[in-house]
Amino acid sequence: MTENVKLTWNGKEIEAPKGSNLLQAALDNGIEVAHYCYHAGLSVAGVCRMCMVEQDGNPRAFPSCNATCGEGMVVHSDTPKIKAAVEATLQFHLVNHPLDCPVCDQAGECGLQDYYMKHGQYDSQMIDKKVHKEKVQDIGKNVMLDAERCILCSRCTRFTSEVTGTNELGILNRGDHAEITVNENLKNDYAQNLVDICPVGALTSKDFRFKQRVWFLEDVLTTCIGCETGCSVKVSQNKNGSYRVKPVYDHGVNGHWMCDDGRKIYKHVSSPTRLSAASENINGLFIPVDEAGILNSLSDKKLKFILSTGLTNGEYQNFFAKIKGSNAEVALYSLPHEGPEFDGILKRGDKNANLRGAVKAFDQAGFDHSQAALDKVLNSLTKSDALFVVVPEIIYNEDHFNTLIKKVEKAAVALALTPGESLASMRSFKYLLPVPSFLEKDGEITNFQGAGRELRKGLSYGETSKDVSYYAGWVNV
Ligand code: SF4
Ligand code: SF4
Ligand code: FES
Repeated sequence: MTENVKLTWNGKEIEAPKGSNLLQAALDNGIEVAHYCYHAGLSVAGVCRMCMVEQDGNPRAFPSCNATCGEGMVVHSDTPKIKAAVEATLQFHLVNHPLDCPVCDQAGECGLQDYYMKHGQYDSQMIDKKVHKEKVQDIGKNVMLDAERCILCSRCTRFTSEVTGTNELGILNRGDHAEITVNENLKNDYAQNLVDICPVGALTSKDFRFKQRVWFLEDVLTTCIGCETGCSVKVSQNKNGSYRVKPVYDHGVNGHWMCDDGRKIYKHVSSPTRLSAASENINGLFIPVDEAGILNSLSDKKLKFILSTGLTNGEYQNFFAKIKGSNAEVALYSLPHEGPEFDGILKRGDKNANLRGAVKAFDQAGFDHSQAALDKVLNSLTKSDALFVVVPEIIYNEDHFNTLIKKVEKAAVALALTPGESLASMRSFKYLLPVPSFLEKDGEITNFQGAGRELRKGLSYGETSKDVSYYAGWVNV
C-alpha cells in the first residue's frame, strides 16, 4: 500500500502519496495552480514554467510539476515572488500569441484565456511586431493546427511519442521561431485527444470548429458504445443537437483517452434523417402511421424477436419479464468484429457494447443467444409470424446486417425497432418504429471487464420514449 505524507500548501494541510507529483497533489486537493505543459497522462516536461512554487528552506523557486511530495514540506504558490514569476512567464507566452479569442474555438475553455484573466498584465509591454506563423494547417485525422496560437507546451509531441508511439509531431527551430512541425500527417487512431490536451486553441477539431460556442453546451456524462471497452465520455449537447464527444478520466477503463471512432458515436442522435415516428412502408416510401393500429393488427400472429447487443441490462430484463410464459421466440444479433481484437491502447474489435449483458440476460431467461438460434428463427419464418428486429444503433458493416435483413420478408409482418438512422435496406421491413438511442436512456451496460458502465439520458430529439419491452408487453404475447 502506498504511504501517504502530510504537507502544507499555502497554509492548508494536504495529504498525498509519498513521492507523488507535487503539482498533482495540489490539484487533487482542490488547490488551483497555473500550468500548461503538465498533463497527468504524459511524462513531465517542465517547459512552461507556470507552476512555480516556493518551499520553506529552499531559497529558489522551482516548478512544482517537476518535484515530488515529501513529509512536512511547506509549499507556497501565493507569495508575491511567485505571483510576479507567473505574471512574467505569462507575458512571455503572450508575446507572439495572436489573441484572436473572438474567433477561436478554444475560447471559454482556454488555459491561456483563463490565466490571462487571473494573472495577466493586460497592457502589453511589447513594442516589436508579433512573429506570424501558419494559421490554418490541416494536419490530418480531423485535426487543424494554428501555429500562431501554440505556446510550445509539447503536450502534443509527447502524446504522439508516448501514447501512440507514432511520432507524427515534433518541435523545430529555436526561440520565437520555434514551432510545431508535422513530420507526417496524423495517422494514429487517437489523434483527436490532441485537441483535448492542447491547453490553447492551437489544435482544434475540424468536426467541431465553428459549430458552437462552448458556453452554449451542456455535457452529459455517459459511456461510449463504440466497442466493448466502454470508455467514460461526455457528450456536449444543446437543444439543437449533440456536437462532440470527449473522454472523461476513468482510472480503471480508459484513463485520460478515447479513440477517434468513439468521437463519432453521437452523430445519428440528432440527425435529420433519423426516424422520429412510427412509419409504414408503402411501396418503398415510409409514411408516418398510427402505432396502436400496427400493434392491434399483430394480435393473431406468432411473435418473434431478434434483439441487438446494444440494449441496457435493464431493457433486457424488462423485455424477458414481459415475454415470460409466452411462446415468443427470441434470438440475438451480434455485430461482427472489426479489425484486431485489441489495439494495445483502448480499441477493441468487438463492437458489441453490451454483449456480456445480453448473454447474461438470455442465459437467465433460458433463451439461446447463439448464431445457430438466430439462423433457426430466420430460417423458420412463415406468413403467420410477426418479426420484431431491434436494429443495432451503429452499424459498422452494412453487408453483414443486410444478410439478416434479406430474410425478414418471409415473415407476415417485419418491424424494425431502430435507435439510429434508416438504411436503404430497411425497405424490407413493413414498419419502422423509433426506440431510444444511448443518449436518450438511463441504464447500465456491461463492458469487456464485466464492469457495469452507466448510460445517462441527455436531451431528446424525437418520440423515442418507448423501448423494446413496451412493444413486447403491448401486444400481450
Ligand atoms: S500545439 Fe498545443 S499541445 Fe502542441 S505544443 Fe502547441 S500548445 Fe502545446
Ligand atoms: S475504445 Fe471503444 S469504447 Fe473507447 S472510445 Fe473507442 S470505440 Fe469508444
Ligand atoms: S506545468 Fe510545470 S513547468 Fe509547465
